[in-house]
Amino acid sequence: MKSFIAVLLRLLVCLWFIGGGAFAHAENSGPTPEALEKARKINEQCFACHAPEALQHPPQAGLDLAKLRQVIVDPDVFKNADHGRLACTKCHNEGYDDFPHAPDAKDSTGTCEDCHSKKVAKIEPEFNRSVHAKHMADKFTCTTCHNPHVMRNAAKQTDAGKLVAQDNRICLGCHDSDQTFAKFAPEKKTRPPIDDIHSWLPNTRLHWQSVRCVECHTPLSSDMLSHEIVNKDKAERKCVTCHSVNTQLNLRLYRYLAKDEHQKYGFVNSVILGKSYVIGATRNPILDSILIGLAALTVLGVAIHGLLRIVAAALRRRK
Ligand code: HEC
Ligand code: HEC
Ligand code: HEC
Ligand code: HEC
Ligand code: HEC
Ligand code: HEC
Ligand code: HEC
Repeated sequence: MKSFIAVLLRLLVCLWFIGGGAFAHAENSGPTPEALEKARKINEQCFACHAPEALQHPPQAGLDLAKLRQVIVDPDVFKNADHGRLACTKCHNEGYDDFPHAPDAKDSTGTCEDCHSKKVAKIEPEFNRSVHAKHMADKFTCTTCHNPHVMRNAAKQTDAGKLVAQDNRICLGCHDSDQTFAKFAPEKKTRPPIDDIHSWLPNTRLHWQSVRCVECHTPLSSDMLSHEIVNKDKAERKCVTCHSVNTQLNLRLYRYLAKDEHQKYGFVNSVILGKSYVIGATRNPILDSILIGLAALTVLGVAIHGLLRIVAAALRRRK
């Protein structure tokens, strides 16, 4: 029996590692090395002033450091963001080559649509139906949620926890902050405390760490995440939507993360197993039974161990 468990355990550990390896993302064929080098050189010029170090060591005298503090872009964060391989000047088109920058330079900043017309054609109508666009049409735009220097696409995340943290930071940054919320909410509207609203959900803070707001607040979409944040009456409230064998999370949060695996292994969703095991959510009944079996054996083992100790202690006392 002992060796049987050992074999099973080794099998599971192997699956874990294979699962991890599958996440190593293949570099997509993007810009050429020359183009990358060119972009890096341009960005170096911008970072001479726009990186945090410039505040300590201004590259030229007479810079307004208070103003500069408002426009810092972290090179390390930028490097790892979706747009990290682009030259700043791809989006900040004209008027930034010299300093002081041209006063109207801001007007020609590229929009998402300029470069992602196909995705935007799908996203924009959804966004226009969202509660935010409906209630705050003039203030709420794509960049309210997406910082183009920072954002990192879900498909590039290899860890459910990090993806949840990134996406929920967007929503919580406003819905859990009186200051930011007040800037957007119409006069006199107080921010409903995020945990009170969801008081019917046990352990809300754990849920915010394990699952994204958009899981419950957007309709299910066949490809990209829907941008239609629906009003509260239409939000998901049923526990079984996630806590069940056919968890909808497979079509949502875990979809990106499990993509490689679905193709390679098909049958095990080690994302769910490895990162956040939602009980009842493995789609493999055998593995489910093994895991439950192992858990049961552990409990049994501990129980027997405890029992033996009690008996041993009793025997000793009798002696
Ligand atoms: C010599 C320092 C310096 C260099 C080099 C520099 N900037 Fe700036 N930049 C600033 C300062 C200071 C501000 C703060 C606002 C102002 O005074 O215009 C700023 C503001 C900006 C803004 C915000 C404008 C606004 O109105 O909100 C953008 C965008 C920007 N810079 C982009 C760039 C890009 C792109 C480059 C590289 C091609 C670059 N900067 C190079 C100093 C610099
Ligand atoms: C994919 C497009 C894109 C790229 C690449 C890009 N930016 Fe921006 N940047 C924007 C947009 C859009 C805004 C306006 C955001 C807003 O309206 O809040 C912005 C705003 C800014 C601002 C104003 C202050 C702020 O943070 O909102 C600065 C400064 C800036 N960018 C500097 C840079 C520098 C330096 C680089 C290169 C390292 C860079 N940007 C690369 C799109 C881009
Ligand atoms: C100047 C053109 C340009 C603009 C403007 C621009 N992007 Fe991009 N974006 C790109 C390029 C190019 C890539 C791929 C980068 C790579 O592969 O290194 C990219 C990648 C992405 C990705 C990663 C997924 C993918 O398809 O690779 C997302 C998400 C994204 N952009 C969203 C946005 C959003 C949101 C905006 C508006 C705030 C925006 N972009 C503005 C050019 C742009
Ligand atoms: C309320 C916040 C919010 C607003 C407003 C918003 N987005 Fe998004 N967007 C998200 C979230 C959350 C994701 C999912 C996270 C991810 O894929 O990394 C996302 C994902 C995306 C993606 C990646 C989709 C994919 O899977 O390739 C693109 C592109 C994008 N948004 C573009 C836009 C555009 C364009 C607009 C404006 C019309 C916009 N977004 C407005 C929150 C927002
Ligand atoms: C498990 C599903 C679920 C998750 C996860 C979830 N919500 Fe909700 N949310 C709901 C439901 C259901 C309601 C409607 C509650 C009601 O009417 O009593 C709601 C209501 C709301 C409201 C309306 C408040 C009001 O009364 O005006 C806001 C705002 C909101 N959620 C934001 C968020 C944010 C931000 C997150 C992520 C931190 C989040 N939600 C995560 C299900 C969820
Ligand atoms: C920049 C601030 C900001 C961000 C970011 C933001 N919201 Fe909101 N949201 C608001 C404000 C303000 C309202 C109240 C609008 C109103 O009722 O006038 C609101 C309303 C809502 C509502 C309530 C709709 C109803 O029925 O009353 C939901 C649900 C919601 N947001 C979910 C989200 C989710 C999910 C995200 C992240 C993807 C998000 N929000 C990101 C500011 C924000
Ligand atoms: C949108 C998906 C979703 C919905 C809806 C949802 N949950 Fe969860 N829930 C999760 C995830 C993901 C976890 C984290 C699992 C983990 O990390 O162990 C979790 C964790 C929990 C936990 C903690 C389990 C533990 O290991 O401590 C409880 C209890 C729970 N949920 C109960 C509920 C109840 C009751 C409801 C309905 C009112 C509900 N959940 C609705 C996704 C969801």
